[in-house]
Amino acid sequence: MDHATHERIAKWERRWLAVTGLMSIVFITLIAYSLATEGTHAARQSGRTHPEALSSSTLFAQPGVTATGPNEYRVTMVGQAFSWTPSTVVLPLGATATFYLTSRDVIHGYQVQSTNINVEVIPSEVAVFQYTFDEPGRFRAACNEYCGSQHHDMVGFVEVLRTSEFANRQQAEAAAAAGPVDGAAAYAANCAGCHQQDAQGIPGAFPPLAGHFGELVTAARQYPLLVVLNGLQGQITVDGVNYAGQMPAFRQLTDDEIAAILNHLAAGFDNPATLPADFAEYTADEVAQARSLEMSAAEVHERRTELSLP
Ligand code: CUA
Repeated sequence: MDHATHERIAKWERRWLAVTGLMSIVFITLIAYSLATEGTHAARQSGRTHPEALSSSTLFAQPGVTATGPNEYRVTMVGQAFSWTPSTVVLPLGATATFYLTSRDVIHGYQVQSTNINVEVIPSEVAVFQYTFDEPGRFRAACNEYCGSQHHDMVGFVEVLRTSEFANRQQAEAAAAAGPVDGAAAYAANCAGCHQQDAQGIPGAFPPLAGHFGELVTAARQYPLLVVLNGLQGQITVDGVNYAGQMPAFRQLTDDEIAAILNHLAAGFDNPATLPADFAEYTADEVAQARSLEMSAAEVHERRTELSLP
């Protein structure tokens, strides 16, 4: 090869190098632009998990939607060929949802219609992202990583409900999960001995719950749970009548039983009229949360004095 030919080839090589360099710059600029202005963001990896041990993982043993704070929810999901668990995620409108996704087998993709949700779901890794649904509706979630012969069937949904519909849905699910616990029977077995079957109590000895329970819930929704779980010690006044206040704790009851008893009280005995307008039934989760705040019966009484009761 003579010198001139050599020079010509070298010149073309430099040009191609310049073109590829320029393309890299263009692509990186586009990524930076979409990150900055189009609401795109990289999913962060919150940790690792073992695909074969998901059933004993705290995050993924029972995938689903959990309330983590006022208007905040945690959504945990597991992808597997060829489905999502849970297949439908139900969230209230406007809530901030933090999603945690992992895969039980191969790589899947989770892409939700009408949103910018689009993450790779990789076995042994946990993908995390946050999203707020500002529009009610049922959105289709497709797997967008080829994962096998029925990849095209790997469909899920995100259902975004208005707050009231969401509460109804949760109530129905809680009732179904609570299964056979009968609030009326549990009340008769545990409470009626003192508060009486008609919940009118015995003036001077045991305070009424009829007409009074709703007032307590209105003052502080958690308060009745604290009383049942920890008891109450100290004098109280209901409808102008004093009571010595010696209620024992009923911690031995299950979360489901306590929720069922309170819901039984909320549904009758002149209580519905005094309940808050947006009252939603007590759930076992709520009882479990209250149970974790161990208090003495005297501390519960102190809490009661802080309530503004009629
Ligand atoms: Cu899962 Cu494609």
